[in-house]
Amino acid sequence: MYIDKASEFAGQVQQVNGWVYDTRSSGKIAFVLVRDGTGIMQCVVVRNEVDEATFDTVRRLTQETSLSISGTIHAEERAPGGYEMHVRAMEVHQLTSGYPITPKEHGVDFLMSNRHLWLRSKRQWAIMRIRATIIKSARDFLDDHGFLLVDAPILSANACEGSSTLFSTDYFGTPAYLSQSGQLYNEATAMAFGRVYCFGPTFRAEKSKTRRHLTEFWMVEPEMAYCDWSQNCDVQEQFVTYIVRKVLEQRSEELAIIERDTSLLEKVVTPFPRVPYDEAVQILQKAGSSIQWGDDFGGDEETIISNQFERPVFVHGYPKSIKAFYMKVNPNNQQTALCADLLAPEGYGEIIGGGQREDDCDMLLSRVHAEGLSEADYQWYLDLRRYGSVPHSGFGLGIERTVAWVCKLPHVRETVPFPRLLEKIYP
Ligand code: 4AD
Ligand code: MG
Repeated sequence: MYIDKASEFAGQVQQVNGWVYDTRSSGKIAFVLVRDGTGIMQCVVVRNEVDEATFDTVRRLTQETSLSISGTIHAEERAPGGYEMHVRAMEVHQLTSGYPITPKEHGVDFLMSNRHLWLRSKRQWAIMRIRATIIKSARDFLDDHGFLLVDAPILSANACEGSSTLFSTDYFGTPAYLSQSGQLYNEATAMAFGRVYCFGPTFRAEKSKTRRHLTEFWMVEPEMAYCDWSQNCDVQEQFVTYIVRKVLEQRSEELAIIERDTSLLEKVVTPFPRVPYDEAVQILQKAGSSIQWGDDFGGDEETIISNQFERPVFVHGYPKSIKAFYMKVNPNNQQTALCADLLAPEGYGEIIGGGQREDDCDMLLSRVHAEGLSEADYQWYLDLRRYGSVPHSGFGLGIERTVAWVCKLPHVRETVPFPRLLEKIYP
């Protein structure tokens, strides 16, 4: 039996295969908390109901000892999960000694170097399950709204998000790069399939040590033909609202474990406010920031803006000079781009970057030159503007930033099983 299915087995004798989470015993009775990955079950061992050797072993059980334990399943309100086991027999697979992560407080560095073990703790268990639900609901939403999953390559000959954060590798004698984003390929597949998305790991050689940056992160990227930047925002607010609602519906136990205030997540409903970049600059200046029109926002600026709203907020129409080469220039204001970032509430900042793509071949070519990119590398991408070019838009939602916000975590390092950071590639 798996622990999360205990309610289906009340009154029956069942076996649980797992690990000891905690134990407590008095002279006649012992309680063993066993986890099996799906949940934690309280197993009650009464001295005169099992043989002497079993009771003895129970008293010697240590944290993370692996074992199979069997007995009758009973409803018990006070037990975690509402069911407990009255134990009849037990088989120890490995009696563990010296497990490094004890219930006492440990520093983050220590926990990070024991990430392979830290994942067994209750809090990490809750976070990873919320992450899985965020990913599943992102995919469900897109699958159910006419988007086709079309995978983008990981190895690529050209940059998408600027050449300063490329990880390069040798591809049989020529340089190749790990994908920063599947977007450029998405634009090709959107012209073939209409509405598409890709979902995969993306890589940025970010030299910054912040609580929001990983060097390897997962991104879900939808792309839509015949879609302008504002329709793109309509999709994003539906999408994000759906994801948050599914987490609230399906992960209440996990949200309680990490003590998340869910009333703030309940407030995530459409429509999301849309603030022009110019206004965002004014908000920042009023808040005492020295930011000037034309400057990019860093984490601090995004925090100030997102703190002004209870819902996620779009900031749109950034200066084109601080955005990627592929963004469509606003025909009514040549200095700005038809793009929008979505900032999460509670100070979390950008979780989505997106916008309308430049669909004019000459304009795009001039942006390629202005950015110092090689025209030859982008011929295939320019072809999309030569053969049946249409207005199109898309966006990328960073999974780890979204998990950090939904779980209200102080740092993205806890949002992914094995985080890759500037100074961290082990374990
Ligand atoms: O804003 P970004 O760079 O946009 C793109 O990559 C577009 N090509 C996406 C698209 O339009 N298809 O990144 C998108 C999102 C960010 O909003 C953020 O959530 C996440 O990806 N992200 C990171 N997450 C963790 N660590 C990093 N270093 C990240 N860089 C971006
Ligand atoms: Mg961005």
